Amino acid sequence: MENFTHFIPTEYHFGKGAIDCLGSCLARFGHRVLLVYGGGSIKRTGLYDTIIQICKDNSLTVTELPGVEPNPQIRTVRKGIALCRSESIDVILSVGGGSTIDCSKAIAAGYYYKGDPWEMALEGGSDGKALPLVDVMTLAATGSEFDADAVISNDETSQKLDGKYNCPNISICDPTYTFSVPANQTAAGSADIMSHIMEQYFSRTFDSDLSEAIGEGILKSVISNLPKALEYPEDYSARANLMWDSSVACSGIPAYGKVSTLWPCHALEHELSAYYNITHGVGLAILTPRWMRFILEKDPSVTPRFVKFARNVWGLDGDDDAALAREGIESLEDFWQSVNLPSTLTELGIGDEHFYDMASDIEKVSGGLEGDYVPLTSDDIVEIYRRCL
Ligand code: NZQ
Ligand code: ZN
Repeated sequence: MENFTHFIPTEYHFGKGAIDCLGSCLARFGHRVLLVYGGGSIKRTGLYDTIIQICKDNSLTVTELPGVEPNPQIRTVRKGIALCRSESIDVILSVGGGSTIDCSKAIAAGYYYKGDPWEMALEGGSDGKALPLVDVMTLAATGSEFDADAVISNDETSQKLDGKYNCPNISICDPTYTFSVPANQTAAGSADIMSHIMEQYFSRTFDSDLSEAIGEGILKSVISNLPKALEYPEDYSARANLMWDSSVACSGIPAYGKVSTLWPCHALEHELSAYYNITHGVGLAILTPRWMRFILEKDPSVTPRFVKFARNVWGLDGDDDAALAREGIESLEDFWQSVNLPSTLTELGIGDEHFYDMASDIEKVSGGLEGDYVPLTSDDIVEIYRRCL
């Protein structure tokens, strides 16, 4: 088992009515609030009115930054920083999914950054100095409510950069706010949760028992709860389980004690969304089974890991390890097809025109994937993309 450091300073409030503490949480940091949200879902659900009322009741002054895009853009981060400076903002209140929270993390850090925030993103994130950030999470997916990452896009340069910023100071996670998430986003978010686990589960370390079990437990929880949430969007228990799965999956905890990996499917997916602005979880659902088959072919020494996945996650059994490994991947693929996630890039209208550019960008952004669990060259990356067509 490897060494690790646990550091998640977020105060985390979970469950029905958790928003009751919002007013006092915000007031701890000051009275001038920047309310950041996306394209309008919070207005349709009534959450916006609830929040404005809470702010009024607590004598908080609210400035708004609406319109954060899915795959949040650097220009919106710039707008937010300018508002924080001109309005002397004390605390950022981020209400939405991962895109809104990521954008808010970059605003919070960019407020103190001397220079353009895109340079900060290119440097890999912030130095830790940031405005306080409180979020109300509305989509179970990224885990941004319980980690320090933010992924910021720049559609002028076709780049999407994952960086380390600050964890939110406070996250409020009420599963009832996810009742309104449409089926396609519920499924894509769940594919993202599963991918966060699989990126860490597929490693050379087998003896970090608790982390392995947490990973398998989260995968099984998503497999059981996603179909329920799709059938009955207001199934509290299903939504609650998906929300807690989301928070823990990307927190780092499922990787504690394990040799770290380079999160290869995320590296490949961020390029797809940088070039084609697709939904992150959809890209992962297309890429992951292809990556799995590719690495199993390239390095059959990883077969025992796939056998463990097949047995412990999918409940499969048999004496033929190679067959079990293949069946585990097929089970994952069947599951994602059963929840109507797209399974090819062609369905999204994506061709092979940028595959080499994307492989070369992975090299430039993160130094490539040659040091990964199963090393991938640029040609390997292009081949995985090709198999997704
Ligand atoms: O913008 P609004 O109107 O709010 O609508 C959003 C958006 O259209 C909608 N939505 C969110 N909550 C809703 C809702 N619709 C109805 N009811 C609700 N309660 O869903 C759409 C997608 O929202 P978005 O925030 O983009 O989704 P997600 O949470 O999946 O975030 C994706 C972004 O996070 C990054 C991704 O790359 C992508 O940019 N990631 C962030 C990570 C992190 N911070 O640790 C890790 C991930 O691996 C990921 O890369
Ligand atoms: Zn992800």
